[in-house]
This record gives sequence, C-alpha cells and structure tokens, in this order.
Amino acid sequence: FLPKKRKQRDSLINLKIQKENPKVVNEIDIEDLNSANVCYCRCWRSKTFPVCDKSHIKHNELTGDNVGPLILKKKIL
Ligand code: FES
Repeated sequence: FLPKKRKQRDSLINLKIQKENPKVVNEIDIEDLNSANVCYCRCWRSKTFPVCDKSHIKHNELTGDNVGPLILKKKIL
C-alpha cells in the first residue's frame, strides 16, 4: 500500500515537456491544416511535441502500453 501522494507521482504522464509551466495547453487552428494528415502526440514522449514523432512505438514496446497519436484529416471537397 503506497501513500496517496506517492501513487500519484508514479502515475505521471508528462515526464519532461514544458515542466516549467503549470499546465501544458496547445491550440491549433483548424483553418491552418493543409491537405496532409497531421498527427498530434498523446503519449507525451514526442521530441517534437505536440506533433507525433512516432516515439509512441518505443514507449508501447517498453511499457506494454497501447497509445497512439490523434490524427487530424482535412476533408477535401
Ligand atoms: Fe506520442 Fe506518437 S509520439 S503519440
């Protein structure tokens, strides 16, 4: 049985991105999307955060996790 604070620390998601900020928030204007797909990181391991650099593959191998990016696609009408 771990103390509550210790259990919360062990469950950190963000290990190193913008730790100087109290909260990491990213804003993306949908109008700025071009015709290509844009992948946004949800594993918090990308070196190009908030854009996915495929670091989730290594993270999943090491941890047994199953996270992947958010892929935004623009419909071409
Ligand atoms: Fe984080 Fe791909 S690098 S989801």
